[in-house]
Amino acid sequence: MIAFGRPSTDPSVKERVFSGIQPTGELHIGNYFGAVINYIRLQEEYECIYSIVDYHAITVDHDPKLLPAKVLAMAADLLACGLDPDKAILFVQSHVPEHTELAWIFNCLTSFGDLTRMTQFKEKAKQQEFVSAGLFDYPVLQAADILLYRASKVPVGEDQLQHLELARRIARRFNSRFGEFFPEVEPILSEAPRVMSPAEPTMKMSKSLGEKHYIGVMEPEASIYEKVKTAVTDVGPRGPEMSPGVANLFLILKLSADSRLYDELEEEYRTGKLKYVRLKEAVFESLMGVLRPIQARRRELERDLGGVKQVLEAGAARAREIAQENMREIRRLIGVGLESFNPGR
Ligand code: TYM
Repeated sequence: MIAFGRPSTDPSVKERVFSGIQPTGELHIGNYFGAVINYIRLQEEYECIYSIVDYHAITVDHDPKLLPAKVLAMAADLLACGLDPDKAILFVQSHVPEHTELAWIFNCLTSFGDLTRMTQFKEKAKQQEFVSAGLFDYPVLQAADILLYRASKVPVGEDQLQHLELARRIARRFNSRFGEFFPEVEPILSEAPRVMSPAEPTMKMSKSLGEKHYIGVMEPEASIYEKVKTAVTDVGPRGPEMSPGVANLFLILKLSADSRLYDELEEEYRTGKLKYVRLKEAVFESLMGVLRPIQARRRELERDLGGVKQVLEAGAARAREIAQENMREIRRLIGVGLESFNPGR
């Protein structure tokens, strides 16, 4: 059992890690290098809980016929990347209804003003014809995801930092009103907290921008080759600072190549000798070195999607146990429900 409030000082108690990912149907290398790589690393050391957040996915227009397949595909993608269900819990958010229950409680502790300042809401709202209250409330559900498990470490990309700051505020407000219960939430960033679009390197790699703006982890080699080959590099003459496009290629190289090759190409860049064709060839080859084994595992999992579903069911059962225990305490602290109330005579 983790002690109330702050993470336990007992070294035998593992701190809890939580993260969530939307079932977009396809993982891209921004997700992988920005967050998933840390999911895998952290499962060796911590008690890790990872969720495919389908209730977040329905905050914008979605196709109900496609969503279940996308959820399963995301689970298979994560397992192919190395998430190990013997070490970490993997489950679907809607399978644990306590997430939405806690979100409601947190709604009552979140100010309207705080939510209007969320930059991701402002960006996403611009892309929607119909802006739902769910989209506005999205970060509150995210805070509930994390705090339901009293997790303190959250591996994410840079775009999630503002949401985590809000989760900290909500937890502090709860603790000061009702008693210390939630730990301080701390983001864990990778070496690549913001991978950019190859076609428009001033913008974050993202599926919603369109095909050419992301490289899928499971994408066919020929198509990845094309995207790397046509990636934007320098527009105009080379300045003392790397352009965003070149910096992005070097970032991908850093994460996928051995450090000797990286250093060699960086030196060539600094001395003005580097040809971008060579940089792109190196990026493509190194990246495929990382992706090929993942793609091979993914093909195997595609033949056993029933097994993937079972992993999610077992994960939900484990998550629910923790969630139910914490929710009982949360309800008691805020005075909701009569479970622990004894009216006497
Ligand atoms: P989502 O599904 O958009 O992305 C999943 C993870 O990938 C990271 N990421 C990136 N990292 C680097 N470069 C990029 N271009 C890039 N694009 C995406 C994201 O930062 C994220 O870590 N709101 C979350 C899901 C969520 C969640 C949570 C996360 C719901 N509840 C609780 C943490 C804790 C989201 O939409 O992620």
